[in-house]
This record gives sequence, C-alpha cells and structure tokens, in this order.
Amino acid sequence: MKFFVDTADVDAIRDLAELGVVDGVTTNPSLILKAGRDITEVTREICEIVDGPVSAEVVALDAPAMIEEGRKLARIAPNIAIKLPLTWDGLKACKALASEGYMINVTLCFSANQALLAAKAGASFISPFIGRLDDINLDGCELIQDIRTIYDNYGFETEILAASIRSVNHVTEVARIGADVMTAPPDVIRKLASHPLTDKGLDAFLKDWEKTGQKIL
Ligand code: E4P
Repeated sequence: MKFFVDTADVDAIRDLAELGVVDGVTTNPSLILKAGRDITEVTREICEIVDGPVSAEVVALDAPAMIEEGRKLARIAPNIAIKLPLTWDGLKACKALASEGYMINVTLCFSANQALLAAKAGASFISPFIGRLDDINLDGCELIQDIRTIYDNYGFETEILAASIRSVNHVTEVARIGADVMTAPPDVIRKLASHPLTDKGLDAFLKDWEKTGQKIL
C-alpha cells in the first residue's frame, strides 16, 4: 500500500520523506489555509520534495472552469494530480482532463456508486473519506471494501485512495481490505511506529546494558 501524506506543511513532508515513507501528498483548500501559504508556491515546493503524485484541488464548480483551473494547477509540476470533487461537473472535468493525459484524483467520495462513476470517467485515484463517514455513524471501511470488490469485479484500474484517515487502526483496516493508497496526516503516520511494549522493552534493555558497564566500540 502506498503512503500519501495529507498536509501542505512542507517541514512535516520533508521529515517523513527522509524516512522514505512518502509516496505522494494530498492537499485540499482547508490544508492550504492551515499552511498559510500561497497555493502555487507551496505546491511547487512540495513537488520538489516528493516525486510521486501531489494532489492539488480545484475550487471552481462548473466543468469548464474546473478544467481551466486543473490545467493551471498541472502546470506547477509534472507530478501534479488534479483533485476534482465528486459532482456531476467534477466527473465531466475528470473525463476531459483524463483524456488530455492528466492524473486525476476524484475527491469527496462517500458511496460505491460515486466511485463507480469516477472510475468510468477515467480517474487515476478515487478518494473515499472514511473518517467523515465514521463521524456520522456510518462505516467508512465498509465503503473501502465495497469499492475494492466492485473495482476488482470489472478490472477498473482507478486506485483506491483511502482518505480522511483519523487513526492508526484505520490504516491497518484499509491495508487489510486492500486499498491501493492511504493518505493520512503526519501525526497518524508517525504514530504507526509507536507501541507501548516497544518503549517498555527498550527501557529494560537500556537499564540492563548500563549494568554491564560495556560500550559498543
Ligand atoms: C484527502 O484527500 C483529504 O484531504 C483528507 O483526507 C480529508 O481528511 P479530513 O476528513 O480529516 O479533513
């Protein structure tokens, strides 16, 4: 499973990239606001750090304007994935921009039927938001499972990008189901390395080591 980082925080991306765990980045208008940076400038900087797909989202609502914005965003770097909302116009823009050869990430997906349409419109990625479904007492991971089954039934090549990941358990669950990609905030990715028994074990080893009086030379 590929790991994308869901942030426009360049320092956080650089830190994770050093470990080799960043296969791509996803941003959205809220993350751009949080970063407090100009969208073109920060997206260009991210694309210099990460070779994989970097999603940048359009904000227009009608297909012609989305197409125009998408082309502008794609000019930032060759690894831009144009992020389009899952609306009827978003699907029209997806079809047009995918036909021009652009990578498209269709976002704000909350149902299997929406995912089916995005695949038929030529999306490179479909982003089902599992955390936001969990927030309203629905099962986000069940949606990932449904999309996996449907895409496999028909051989759709659109990659399932599990988004709106809020916990390390979400990561395990979507990996078990077979999502192609997961995108998570930097703190969730860092937490994947933690286990209380690792800390406890390390502490005991170091205490015993100290008692040996040795040094590794
Ligand atoms: C994905 O592309 C989105 O940017 C993101 O995962 C949304 O997550 P949220 O629901 O935690 O805002």
